[in-house]
Amino acid sequence: MTTTDSQGSTPSTRSFHVLVLPGDGIGREVIPAAVEVLRATGLPLTFSTAEAGWECFEQHGTSLPDETLAAARGADAVLFGAVSSPSHPVAHYRSPIVALRRALDLYANIRPVRTNDERRTTNDGKSNSFVLRPSSLVDLVVVRENTEDLYIGKETSDGETAIAQRVITRKASERIARAAFELARARRTTNDQRPKEFDAEYLSSFVFRPSSESKVTIVHKANVMRETCGLFRAAALSVAKEYPDVAVDEQLVDSAALQLVQRPERFDVLVTTNMFGDILSDVASYWVGGLGMATSANIGDTHALFEPVHGSAPDIAGKGIANPLAAIGCAAMLLEHLGKCKLQIANCKLPGAVQQIEEKSIANDSYSVWARRIRSAISAVLANGPKTPDLGGSATTDTVTKAVIEWFKED
Ligand code: NAI
Ligand code: MG
Repeated sequence: MTTTDSQGSTPSTRSFHVLVLPGDGIGREVIPAAVEVLRATGLPLTFSTAEAGWECFEQHGTSLPDETLAAARGADAVLFGAVSSPSHPVAHYRSPIVALRRALDLYANIRPVRTNDERRTTNDGKSNSFVLRPSSLVDLVVVRENTEDLYIGKETSDGETAIAQRVITRKASERIARAAFELARARRTTNDQRPKEFDAEYLSSFVFRPSSESKVTIVHKANVMRETCGLFRAAALSVAKEYPDVAVDEQLVDSAALQLVQRPERFDVLVTTNMFGDILSDVASYWVGGLGMATSANIGDTHALFEPVHGSAPDIAGKGIANPLAAIGCAAMLLEHLGKCKLQIANCKLPGAVQQIEEKSIANDSYSVWARRIRSAISAVLANGPKTPDLGGSATTDTVTKAVIEWFKED
């Protein structure tokens, strides 16, 4: 069932329609928190809620009802929580988020990681005997291909041998590479407008980068998977030639995983295939404070969906202690996206569109301003508390959400 409500729109302001899919487990706790924050901005947004996920499957026999898919197609943006997917085979069950990414052709999964005060504080070496510490701020984005690879779900098994199909196409590889190079270029070209020193206001923004250099690292395993990874690598390297102003390098995925831990500051934009991107973005999320902090945007040419990187967390679901900051960070990304749509309503497209918008008009745009305010408030709450248990505190989801709203009201 889909339910709709609206707020604050006047006949003169276009209202954006956000479809909310809380899903399962803590998705039902952190997504209402993110919606509460969006409502508190007073921006002209209309919300509707629909079902998807494991509980939906148990009730209706489908994890992604046609009605939900139609609502997602009709929305200006989707805010997605998390769903539970059993690790054992269940007849006719498919993860709805994987299906949504494919159905809406959300080919670019953008996962920003920027060190924040929380990670720097907890990583000071006083409490741990073995400490990971970047030599400078970590500010990278994992750009993950979102529509193919092993995640297409074409698997067979006779009980003794199980076989999965890995599909990599030149078309999907080229367009994700182009998205990565456009993003790297856009992050650098906005550098002049950015404060010289690290400014927590930009926490998790996928647009700004403090360094004047931009680089795309192509991550693959073409030494072993010569055809599939080989095609991805060749396609990405051919796209690289269109961007002589952006440095390019390549790395094998196992080595990239270690580098994300040992020398994360060496990365700017990483581009990789679907499953490698899934795994590497969880690794990289360490630098923002773990899964309770990691945000992501799923972007296509015509649709966009925002979701925390984490899952439904059954171990803490129902306790009211899930960290809502990843979901709230996603709400900020969603506003940033709508701001760009507002400026480019005819062709709502990321990340290439970022370049074409003058920085001045971004700064004046109320959606982008609110996105920054929310990020500022997240940083303030991280620095001053309250914090949920995953960050070492004892606060509830609700207390942290209210604290974020308090901070940006004072801003
Ligand atoms: P998970 O991300 O749900 O949890 C991993 C660990 O991180 C748990 O200890 C959990 O308590 C903690 N955690 C995650 N988010 C948190 C938050 N916001 N605040 C505080 N702690 C948090 O991953 P897990 O346990 O591997 O998977 C659980 C279920 O979620 C599975 O059914 C899986 O299929 C599903 N999942 C769904 C995703 C999606 O819908 N996009 C993504 C990842 C997993
Ligand atoms: Mg994942």
